[in-house]
Amino acid sequence: MIKPNPQLNRIIEYKPGKSLEELQRELGISNAIKLASNENPFGASTKAIEAIKNFLNKIHIYPDSHCVNLREKLSKKLNVNFEEIIIGNGSDEIIELIFKAYIGKHDEILSCFPTFAYYKIAAQQTFGEYKEIPLKNYTFDLKNLLESINKKTKIIIICNPNNPTGTYVSNEELYKFLDKIPEHILVIIDEAYFEFFDKDKVVNGIKFIKKFPNKNIIILRTFSKIYGLAALRVGYGISKKEIISNLNKVRQPFNVNGVAQIAAFSALDDEDFLLKTYNNNLKCKKILYEFFQKHQIFYLPSQTNFIFFDPKIDNEKFFNEMLKRGVIIRSLRSFGYQTALRVSIGTEKEISIFLENFEKLYYYLK
Ligand SMILES: Cc1ncc(COP(=O)(O)O)c(C=O)c1O
Repeated sequence: MIKPNPQLNRIIEYKPGKSLEELQRELGISNAIKLASNENPFGASTKAIEAIKNFLNKIHIYPDSHCVNLREKLSKKLNVNFEEIIIGNGSDEIIELIFKAYIGKHDEILSCFPTFAYYKIAAQQTFGEYKEIPLKNYTFDLKNLLESINKKTKIIIICNPNNPTGTYVSNEELYKFLDKIPEHILVIIDEAYFEFFDKDKVVNGIKFIKKFPNKNIIILRTFSKIYGLAALRVGYGISKKEIISNLNKVRQPFNVNGVAQIAAFSALDDEDFLLKTYNNNLKCKKILYEFFQKHQIFYLPSQTNFIFFDPKIDNEKFFNEMLKRGVIIRSLRSFGYQTALRVSIGTEKEISIFLENFEKLYYYLK
């Protein structure tokens, strides 16, 4: 029998939740709702969809290896140099590229728990080690991360705002942290939910790349969330030129497909769509907060398009009962919580269906 590389033994395969189609088939219904993967409830921008349609007669041609048009547009929008941007097959791929370029045997990657699950899975594919320290007050514990650095630490990952808690570290906290980071360490700041920040709380990691030119900082963003292009897999990284150049050495020449490139390019233009999504998110968050407050259910104010809540009821049971009612949310059992769950922000209609079912179920199970 052929044996895989030994580091694979430590990987627990990622299990995506039930799809809408699967659930609808099981229940024999057609109106189930999915509020489990932090997707855009309005779909994608019509500008992106139009651009895809117009591109269909070009799919026999290899995509642009350097994503020139998309990077140029992003460079103007974000006020960074073209050479400081890399596009990936989702930001998931950029995480892999960073590890491929920088993690060798015995190197350590440090982050907090719970956070986005793929950091650990991608780390365990390497010959390095993944170390995690607990969140403090449901938030990334920057002080403890600094104190946990040892000779082997090569990369630190901060998810800001954090998935699955929706909490964030402020500009001041991040500044103090980065100021103390040694120059041989790379700090990844994953800003997958950046566009959902409340206007008075925005933490834009890009400015720290400029503020600390001798440090190694990479910011990750994605088109999967507010831009509504999750199926196309487009994410991007911003860092100094040397780091981007190293990531380019380890990526596939055609890592981002042509449909994805044109869709992301066009989605950037659709300000109305972004505003509609942002405003809906704000409004629905408020509806959910008020509901949780009224019923005295613990929740965390969120800087994202999802909310962490804890009804103090077995979360797997709660999740399964919601499923039976045609509502897919996320149990946070695999994130180490026994009773907490996460709900993605849907349309107002979806949120009202969620709350209607939630209320009945909560008082039934409580
Ligand atoms: C914090 C975080 N980072 C990265 C990703 C993955 O993004 P992408 O779809 O660009 O790979 C997600 C997706 O849920 C996420 O929550």
